[in-house]
Amino acid sequence: RQVVAAASLLWLLLLPWPWASAVHRSDFPVSFLFGTATSSYQIEGAYLEDNKSLSNWDVFTHVPGRIKDGSTGNIADDHYHRYEEDIELMHSLGTDAYRFSISWARILPTEGRFGGVNQLGIEFYNKLIDSLLFKGIEPFVTLSHYDIPQELEDRYGAWLSAEVQRDFGYFADVCFAAFGDRVRYWATFNEPNVAVLAGYMLGTYPPARCSPPFGSCAGGDSEAEPYAATHNVILSHATAVEIYRRKYQSKQKGSIGIVMYTTWYEPLTDTPEDRLATERALAFTVSWFLDPIVYGDYPPEMRRLLGSRLPTFSPEERRKLGYKLDFIGINHYTTLYAMDCMFSSGCPLGQWTQNALAAGTGERDGVPIGPPTGRSMFYVVPDGIEKMVTYIMKRYNNLPMFITENGYPQVEEGHTNAQEWLHDQARIQYLDGYLTKVAKVIRDGADVRGYFVWSLLDNFEWLYGYTLRYGLYYVDYQTLERKPKSSALWYKRFLQSLHEDQ
Ligand code: NOJ
Repeated sequence: RQVVAAASLLWLLLLPWPWASAVHRSDFPVSFLFGTATSSYQIEGAYLEDNKSLSNWDVFTHVPGRIKDGSTGNIADDHYHRYEEDIELMHSLGTDAYRFSISWARILPTEGRFGGVNQLGIEFYNKLIDSLLFKGIEPFVTLSHYDIPQELEDRYGAWLSAEVQRDFGYFADVCFAAFGDRVRYWATFNEPNVAVLAGYMLGTYPPARCSPPFGSCAGGDSEAEPYAATHNVILSHATAVEIYRRKYQSKQKGSIGIVMYTTWYEPLTDTPEDRLATERALAFTVSWFLDPIVYGDYPPEMRRLLGSRLPTFSPEERRKLGYKLDFIGINHYTTLYAMDCMFSSGCPLGQWTQNALAAGTGERDGVPIGPPTGRSMFYVVPDGIEKMVTYIMKRYNNLPMFITENGYPQVEEGHTNAQEWLHDQARIQYLDGYLTKVAKVIRDGADVRGYFVWSLLDNFEWLYGYTLRYGLYYVDYQTLERKPKSSALWYKRFLQSLHEDQ
């Protein structure tokens, strides 16, 4: 078996390098953090172990028909039991940091802030954090990466109730108290813009509610829901930041931010209509959350269109927003064309960008915006990351930024055996191209402080189950064995690279 394992690694070393890498580690500041990212539901498994209660995603994936391959995160990568092996993988890559999330339902399984803290959950993350630090890897922790305890949903409708602000604040407090002596980077939420869009507009993620114009699904949907849910997410962020600033930050010396999903948009045609649609698409994607957190109110581009359908912040809520954030996490994958749906008709509904009266599309006159990846609406456009960072830098006065996710999906089509998955030249080309642009935007003055590849290893990709693979490491879901793909070796070499080597 060992001979077979060694041989499977050897062929990676013999792979021809198809091009000289354009970017080197020494193109980045010395203190820059390079890492990999994952999230609790997508890798941990052990979904009912050690007193954990069900999360919203546990419940959702058990409803037949929700997930493409009918799978769940019950076992996922079994990281809960294999975390030491996974830290070895990170160590062998030579990464500086690891971005992961905490399962809220493991820490506070029942009755939110009124139930007890589950010490077995605390123990798991303590072991994870200590083992990371032992290997010299900095933990970068997300408090909620889509998954929340289902019982908060059942009790009061989770994000639709202001009650959730106190529960999230309590959860954050428990985590700061338990882990904050060793964690220097905290993110309150991962991609709340996607969670709200898919959970309350499109109805495709839990709690599977949808709102006009996206159709209707079971359960009292209304156009106001996505905005009400967002309001509570923003104020939950502010609650956690207030607690961190008042009770922990001066002792623990960490920083706290939020992570947003970003798509860069280019106007489909060079017309004022499509240019305006592009601005709206960007504001509705990122500024919806970031403007209130940084400036205390929703973006004017949204207010103009939505009027009183957008909630307002009370004086007390504005006071809380004053705690702001220390960094912006940018998850960036792709670029699309934005087309106007305000003055022109014929926008495909499924591709609408929230309620921005704009639609995203990947092609102009039948020509894709960049090489397609096989995942729908996902094209390779390295310039997009530079433009996205520049947009955020300008709009938010160059607050510190981290690229908290960037990565390449492999789709099932065309992959019939493990060797084909392992030979991921397209991912190498993608990462090389995007990193080159990150280095450039830093040279041009952007305060970007770190970069995390999504993902360390193949994992449960939400609605796609296990059919999409983002990992630097391949996971055999029969045996749970991890194998390095060519991109793992590429990242390792990149992390060792200096100009002089080239
Ligand atoms: C962003 C999400 O944060 C992550 O959970 C997901 O797997 C990746 N995008 C890839 O779709």
